[in-house]
Amino acid sequence: MKQIGIFFGTETGTTRLVAKKLQKKLGDDIAAKPVNVNRITGADLMQYDALILGTPSYGEGDIPGRHVGCLESNWAEFLATLDKPDFSGKRIAFFGLGAQERYSERFASSLFALYKVFKDWGAEIVGEWPNEGYAFQHSAALVDGRFVGLIIDQRTQGMHTDERLDAWIAQVKPLLAEKLT
Ligand SMILES: Cc1cc2nc3c(=O)[nH]c(=O)nc-3n(C[C@H](O)[C@H](O)[C@H](O)COP(=O)(O)O)c2cc1C
Repeated sequence: MKQIGIFFGTETGTTRLVAKKLQKKLGDDIAAKPVNVNRITGADLMQYDALILGTPSYGEGDIPGRHVGCLESNWAEFLATLDKPDFSGKRIAFFGLGAQERYSERFASSLFALYKVFKDWGAEIVGEWPNEGYAFQHSAALVDGRFVGLIIDQRTQGMHTDERLDAWIAQVKPLLAEKLT
């Protein structure tokens, strides 16, 4: 049976942790094991019609990678290997990690940069998320008052992670599952 592909970038492992929680909550029957984008090819990602993509935030709202000081390869290095792929017909839900107290003026802003890339490549995006319950000055990931994906802050709001994952999964699971038939 077809599955939802789950891919993430990470520097210190937090986004991996959240990706694993997500996969566990979705279940092995519909969700593939999460894979770090630092060890995949474009074909690994393109095999899925339904995707969940996750990223931490580093730099000034940039796509994370060595160019913004990351020590590990991240989304920037993976995206550089792709040659204008066609994501039309594919449905993607995004999640982003950030730290709203320390980086209040650019909270989880890298998520917008990643979202924009796949949107421009023709993907259908689902899983936008309200900004209630977070405290920050600015986030590029807010579009018309809503985040472009689920935002998780393990540093200051880790106690909310499970409930946020559950609520977001209830929203995106049926939409992504439509692509598995
Ligand atoms: C050098 C550095 C820069 C960061 N920049 C941002 C930022 O601009 N915005 C934000 O919300 N979080 C920022 N963070 C917080 C990380 O995105 C957050 O801790 C995330 O959970 C890390 O995920 P990872 O463990 O998967 O790498 C930064 C953290 C570090 C160490």
